[in-house]
Amino acid sequence: MTTGKQSPPTRREALKLFFFLPLGSLLAACSRALGMNPSVSADPTATSSSLLQPAPLATATTAVVLPPTPQCGDDDDDPTPAQTEGPYYTPNTPERTSLLEAGLEGILLTVTGQVLSTDCQPLSAVLIDFWHCDSNGIYDNAGYTLRGHQFTDENGHYSLETKLPGLYPGRTRHIHVKVQAPNQAVLTTQLYFPDEPANATDGIFDPRLVMDLTESSPGLKGAFDFVLQF
Ligand SMILES: [Fe+2]
Repeated sequence: MTTGKQSPPTRREALKLFFFLPLGSLLAACSRALGMNPSVSADPTATSSSLLQPAPLATATTAVVLPPTPQCGDDDDDPTPAQTEGPYYTPNTPERTSLLEAGLEGILLTVTGQVLSTDCQPLSAVLIDFWHCDSNGIYDNAGYTLRGHQFTDENGHYSLETKLPGLYPGRTRHIHVKVQAPNQAVLTTQLYFPDEPANATDGIFDPRLVMDLTESSPGLKGAFDFVLQF
C-alpha cells in the first residue's frame, strides 16, 4: 500500500491489470490451492456465486473498464466517498485485527492499507470498524462474528485478517467499514471486489471503492487506502 507518490505499481496501475484478471479466476485458483472442490458448496442453499463456487468467469472481451480508484496523489485528491451503513451495523465491536474464529468457512482474505489525509499525510490512531457477512451471505446480528475494530499505527497502516464475504440477494460482494480519525467525523463506507459480476447490477456499488485484489498464499490479498477530508 502506498501513496501515489511512491514507486510502482500504483493502485491505478494495479487496477488496470485487474480489469483482465477476473475475481472468478482468483477464486478458482485459491480453491485449487486450498484443495477445495469449486463445484461443491458448503451450504446447499447458497447461490451459484457463493464462496466455494467461483462466480462466472468474465473474459477480457467482456470486462468493464472502471474509473481508477481514488488514491492520495491523484490529480483530484478526493476523499474516500461515503456509503450507506446498511441495516446490519452493530456498535461496540471487539478490538482485533483478525476476525478469524473456529468454524468459519471460506477463503482467507487479508486487507491492508493506510489511512491518509487529503494532503497525503498518514493518520495514526484512526479507528476502523469492519463488518461483513459470512461466506454464505449471512450476518451475525446477535453477536460479533466477522465484526471488529482496530486502530491505525504510527504510519497510518491497518491490517485485517478475515474470510472472503459471500453474497446475499440484492448486493454484490462487499465489506462495510467505519473510519474515524480522533475527534473527527465518522466516514461510513463499503469496500468492493474487482470483476464481480454483481457489481454491474448493485445500485450501491461505487467503482471508486474497489480494492486491489491479488492471489496470495493462502487466500486473497486486498489493498485499499482510505483518504479522509481534513
Ligand atoms: Fe452488507
